Amino acid sequence: MNNLLFRRWPDRWPLQPIDPGNWADQEPTYHAAKPALIAATLQRAQQRPSGNWYVFAASRDIRPGRPFGFTIAGVELVAWRDRGQRLVVGPGACPHLGAPLAQAHIDCGALVCRWHGLRLDSGGEAGWTPLPCHDDGVLAWVRLDHIGDSSPLETPVIGARPPAHRAIAAVATLSGVCEPADIVANRLDPWHGAWFHPYSFTRLEVLETPSQQHDSADSDDRFLVAVTFRVGGRLGVPVRAEFTSPEPRTVTMRIIDGEGSGSVVETHATPLGPGPDGEPRTAVIEAVIADSTRLGFARASHAARFLRPIMTRAATRLWRDDLAYAERRYRQRTQKPG
Ligand code: FES
Ligand SMILES: [Fe+2]
Repeated sequence: MNNLLFRRWPDRWPLQPIDPGNWADQEPTYHAAKPALIAATLQRAQQRPSGNWYVFAASRDIRPGRPFGFTIAGVELVAWRDRGQRLVVGPGACPHLGAPLAQAHIDCGALVCRWHGLRLDSGGEAGWTPLPCHDDGVLAWVRLDHIGDSSPLETPVIGARPPAHRAIAAVATLSGVCEPADIVANRLDPWHGAWFHPYSFTRLEVLETPSQQHDSADSDDRFLVAVTFRVGGRLGVPVRAEFTSPEPRTVTMRIIDGEGSGSVVETHATPLGPGPDGEPRTAVIEAVIADSTRLGFARASHAARFLRPIMTRAATRLWRDDLAYAERRYRQRTQKPG
């Protein structure tokens, strides 16, 4: 595409030409990315109530007829679907002799232990009590009051999402050696976007930062960012996006202007517990929930089956780099003087 065509490119088209530019010639952002500002924003996020809810999987990963085993903060848990397809979550060890319930059999919506046939359902059993859980249609949550330090809430704190009938959701999961705060801190540094992920972002400008005076409930506690998402070659989609932290382990990016307005990317950090080396492991469970009021997107949602893996791959690439950032942050701040 030549430059003349680029100059005539209509402004209202969602795809805009990108000046190829040189990575090193970008405006440095380290002056603006003040460590104290990021730390204060993180601290306010950590003071918000979580209600002790933890995201543990994509809803679609809890399939009928198959138990799903996982751990949160070192606690072994199991999830499955009952007869009505409702989510059930409980301790992952059988109350009889401790068999792994992640390997149990499902019969008529109940979990049947493989070792001696104990049957468990949402009614519980002596020594085994199901835990409060929530399926929001995209993500599965469990409430762990003995681990969380918040007052219990009836349901998890979830921000606004595009209407379910118009949205395409994809969930990517990765894990790294760090704590949830390191994942959240990475997301609360929007300045690294075009420098650290030049394959995905360009022309990134942080338009507004949270004021340090906010009380923790203030909905204006946000970053407002203008950014162009690269879609290959010399084309990109310019948008405005806001970053907020509705609860201590979540950062939500919402597109508020431009193509896909209303779409959100929810990044959830869930502590898994220590790994074999004693260092903490944290899962990043990221839901991309895309919306568009543009004609044709409704049809595109029929292609969700094909779009989902592409969306997941894009998120996974970004997160490989962001996990390296979060793991590095963890090592830096926990380094013992040698
Ligand atoms: S260990 Fe589960 S029934 Fe015995
Ligand atoms: Fe990033």
